Amino acid sequence: MTRGSVILEAQTGPRLLDGGVAFGTMGQDPRRRELRFTVHPSPWRPSTDAELTVKVEPDGEGSRLRLEVAGWSDVLRANHAALPDWSVERLVPRLLELLSPTVFGDWIVEHQARRPSGADSSASYRDPTYHWPNFLMILDRLRLTPADRLLEVACGGGAFLSKALASGCTAVGLDHSPEMLRTARELNAEAIRAGRLTVVEGDAARLPVPSDAFTVCVCTGAFFFFADPAAALGEMRRALCPGGRLAVFTETPEARGTIAAPEPFASRARLHTPGELRTLAEGAGFVEIRVEEPDLAPFARAAHLPSDVVAVFERTGGSVLLTARKPAG
Ligand SMILES: C[S@@+](CC[C@H](N)C(=O)[O-])C[C@H]1O[C@@H](n2cnc3c(N)ncnc32)[C@H](O)[C@@H]1O
Repeated sequence: MTRGSVILEAQTGPRLLDGGVAFGTMGQDPRRRELRFTVHPSPWRPSTDAELTVKVEPDGEGSRLRLEVAGWSDVLRANHAALPDWSVERLVPRLLELLSPTVFGDWIVEHQARRPSGADSSASYRDPTYHWPNFLMILDRLRLTPADRLLEVACGGGAFLSKALASGCTAVGLDHSPEMLRTARELNAEAIRAGRLTVVEGDAARLPVPSDAFTVCVCTGAFFFFADPAAALGEMRRALCPGGRLAVFTETPEARGTIAAPEPFASRARLHTPGELRTLAEGAGFVEIRVEEPDLAPFARAAHLPSDVVAVFERTGGSVLLTARKPAG
């Protein structure tokens, strides 16, 4: 740990650590809307101890973030005139950096999509309105039966799994987000109890599953996030049994700027063209490769989505479905 790096050590207090040395404590669970800290910014002068409160308050349609410092009296008295300069030079740039399009965009993508976390993400991936059409389209193409053993890579909150399991198949869902796994387990608790579904934590590039084990592998709405898409396809091929079927639903560069790939996601995603996807699948050793740009509007209607949502699928394209097989012999 470097000098000056501050970490919240949740298990032991929680304490604030600076280069391994405690300099404060946090008074409340970090998930609460009000966080209280007792800070000793200059241990050589205990009279500078301060109480720091961070509050997130509802404010009309949005939220207000309030930072209050109480105490710190020696510093405030002796350096009163310097406080505005200190704030402008040291405090405010750190806050503004968090709000820059680059840093904030990275956080939004990470938090909402690449590794979803938080209650809002759990709720939205449990019932992902805009994903139902592609789920139904994939299931229409695959025609799963009770004999199928399905692997879903990057299963999110388990919504696709819940539909797929209605076919009577068995399944393994994998994701690298612990909160998504918790949501997927809650949503599919009955199938887990019945021994028809296992949900595991792992990375698409190193699937923690046996080789030649699945008849079908599906990956939807995640392939564009994989750092090494060739490795992920190689792993999916390894996990499939000979003759096993692959279905990867993703977005092409044409979807950039539409609801399928809006900013800040689009510029942080690898949007492959249909030709690039075919090349990747060939490189991973798949055969019977098919790349289609499906019309999702009929599936949006079949999912009984509101008419304004159906209208979005009537006017946007750019999504692509790659299907292929692992060689039989
Ligand atoms: C946009 S969400 C889609 C979730 C779900 N497939 C759906 O369509 O609702 C992307 C998911 O991919 C997962 N993910 C991204 N990169 C991953 C990786 N390298 N390995 C495993 N999961 C990954 C994320 O945690 C997230 O749950």
